[in-house]
Amino acid sequence: MNEITDKADQMISDLKKTKEFFLQNYKKTNSPVSIFTHLDSDGLSSGAILGKALYNENIPFQMTILKQLEIIEIKKIVEKVEEFHNFLIFSDFGSGQYLELSKSLNNNGSSTPYIILDHHLPQEVTDKNDERLKEIYKDTAPWHINPYFYNIDGSTEVSGAGICYYFAQVLNKENEKLAPIALIGAIGDIQNKGVNNSFIGLNSLILEKAKDLDYIEITNDLNFSAIKPLNEAIAYSSNLNLPGLSGNPNKALKFLLKLGIIMENSDGKIKTLNDLSKEEKKKLTSAIIEYATLKLDIEPSEIYKNLIINRYILKNEIVGSELHDLSEFSNLLNSCGRTNSGSLGVAIAMGDRRLAYQKAKNNLIEYKKSIMKSLNWIFENNIIQEKEYIQYFFGGDVIHENIIGTITSMLVFDESGKINKKKPLFGYAKREEKKVYKISGRAHESIVDKGINLSEVIREALKLSDLEALGGGHPPAAGTKVPIDKLENFLDNCNLVVKKQLERKK
Ligand code: C5P
Ligand code: C5P
Ligand code: ZN
Repeated sequence: MNEITDKADQMISDLKKTKEFFLQNYKKTNSPVSIFTHLDSDGLSSGAILGKALYNENIPFQMTILKQLEIIEIKKIVEKVEEFHNFLIFSDFGSGQYLELSKSLNNNGSSTPYIILDHHLPQEVTDKNDERLKEIYKDTAPWHINPYFYNIDGSTEVSGAGICYYFAQVLNKENEKLAPIALIGAIGDIQNKGVNNSFIGLNSLILEKAKDLDYIEITNDLNFSAIKPLNEAIAYSSNLNLPGLSGNPNKALKFLLKLGIIMENSDGKIKTLNDLSKEEKKKLTSAIIEYATLKLDIEPSEIYKNLIINRYILKNEIVGSELHDLSEFSNLLNSCGRTNSGSLGVAIAMGDRRLAYQKAKNNLIEYKKSIMKSLNWIFENNIIQEKEYIQYFFGGDVIHENIIGTITSMLVFDESGKINKKKPLFGYAKREEKKVYKISGRAHESIVDKGINLSEVIREALKLSDLEALGGGHPPAAGTKVPIDKLENFLDNCNLVVKKQLERKK
């Protein structure tokens, strides 16, 4: 047995106790189980897995999709549960609020039973090596499952949907066939960060299962943006530096034309990687390997490693539809969640290919438009500002709070060279309650490796600014909310904590 399966087995053995706790307590309630889940792709995938699993057991349930499990949301949940006495399940959030939940739900001696299936750093835990994890593990069993208890990294090795998948499997072995949904969640949380965009840790075990069941096939593809004009995708790739082509889309276009690839689509637009045939892709791959071998003094195998990525194909979906490619499926769910149509996303992940899917496809067009509009606005107006150790921007009237996180992620992964990857980026947007901003922090993996941990930055900066809001997440991605008049102070404190983190690692 290897290390990953050992850890999985340990978690599964605990999940069996979680299952007993769930079954015993839910039976006492006489009400449907109430699932609360996060609105992003991972949260909706988590909800879909739980929904399928409970449906298969004939356990009635209802589901609520939330932007975040904030104190105010917890209050509302408490009020409702006092009336209806449901058993509660929190998925893809809950760990970051576990103290808050236990305080609120164990009131007055009449405790409400609930479980947390999450992968975020638990409340008050700084990082994966924090000693407090052991205590929390002991104190919160059997109702709290979190990968960090098992020395599994919740930011890279398993997502919320993955944790729900293991729980579902423990409920009933049949549920192992939900493996693709778990991977849709993981890819949504950008957890395919191994070599050639592979999955690591528990995600790799889930992938093996999905392959064994013949649901997923891995194909090789070129590691360029699939949707930008190909010459730009090559010129602005951050994965491969090709002297003469990098930074120069005109030269890249000439290079492509020389290969004999017709670069215009019937509508006159330059082709994207997605538009190329298999043959054309093969031709391009060999040409780039040859070019790079000549221009750079590195082995073809090294080049191949950077040039080729895995694409995950869902074999049972219609070829050419959004649902055929794991990453695009996940993007569709994200678009549902972030346009206040999370339930469509859950329905699609649970198998709906009719009404929900049709509606979601229309949504997707609007969603993509608002993303493009936001990105263009940022670049055209030089919106991003810098402090010594961080950079930040305000979404103004253009970027809605629901997509500020997505936009901030996209900026950090931007390949055009316009974004500084050396400093964490904080985006903030107006919220419906007017006096606060929603904040989304993102850090490129290269600085996470240097010791940047945004979950800690957000939590420390909240404390230093005397703010009570909950916040946190993962080292590369974390969020919170901040009163408008405290924002400057909060950002200064983020700057300070980042500085400390960089010095600590030296
Ligand atoms: O709450 P949850 O864990 O599901 O969300 C993680 C968020 O962090 C996602 O929105 C994902 O896109 C983002 N992320 C990121 N960069 C990473 C890892 C995650 O922007 N390296
Ligand atoms: O909201 P946003 O996409 O910026 O969140 C980034 C990450 O931080 C997500 O994993 C989210 O679940 C987490 N987060 C959190 N607590 C908050 C806000 C965000 O754990 N209050
Ligand atoms: Zn997640």
